[in-house]
Amino acid sequence: MPESCCQHHGASLPPDVDHLFNNNRAWAAKMVEKDPEFFTRLKKTHAPEFLWIGCSDARVPANELIGLAPGEVFVHRNIANQVLAADMNCQSVVEYAVEVLKVKHIVVMGHYDCGGVTAAIHGGAPDMVDHWVRPIRKLFFRHRDEMAGLDRKAQINRLAEMNVVEQVKNLAHLPSVRRAWEKEQFLMIHGWVYGVNDGLIKDLGVSVECVATAEALFHEG
Ligand code: CO
Repeated sequence: MPESCCQHHGASLPPDVDHLFNNNRAWAAKMVEKDPEFFTRLKKTHAPEFLWIGCSDARVPANELIGLAPGEVFVHRNIANQVLAADMNCQSVVEYAVEVLKVKHIVVMGHYDCGGVTAAIHGGAPDMVDHWVRPIRKLFFRHRDEMAGLDRKAQINRLAEMNVVEQVKNLAHLPSVRRAWEKEQFLMIHGWVYGVNDGLIKDLGVSVECVATAEALFHEG
């Protein structure tokens, strides 16, 4: 590698990255100042009651939006908050959350103005992303009659909501979720959408906590 390849190899980090370490030290000190036992407690247990499945969008961070501290939310994020059967990453997270951590709630958190949902309708994303959002594109075509009456922005936001409902449905069909319900382990799945313009979360009213409610809600087994 030529010596002039970059200015910051080895020990020194550029200032825009290095300041993150200052932030981190200040944050850790503040946490200990507020609660001297905070990290000692965290070290001992990992027992979050919530699994958050959200979009990778930087405007939709998990803990901050719902006012929970480190240790309280198990998190999985991907583009457009999808729960797909072939995604080993997401499936592992859900299985671990349900079977080992025994979380009480799974929240699928979509958001308005989602780039992934926009790409599903209008294209323009890089190849792999375009492939990833194909299920959402199929959802759009499945609902094209309703979509035809909406303008561009409303289509994107309505499809973001439909996508959340779809992921709640996908979760309700997963073997690990079904097993938990069969054992009468408490587990409730929720579908919410976040407004990046006002910071508020909307409940889509699709919470399910057993096979019967899932079947009633989705009119299928
Ligand atoms: Co998004």
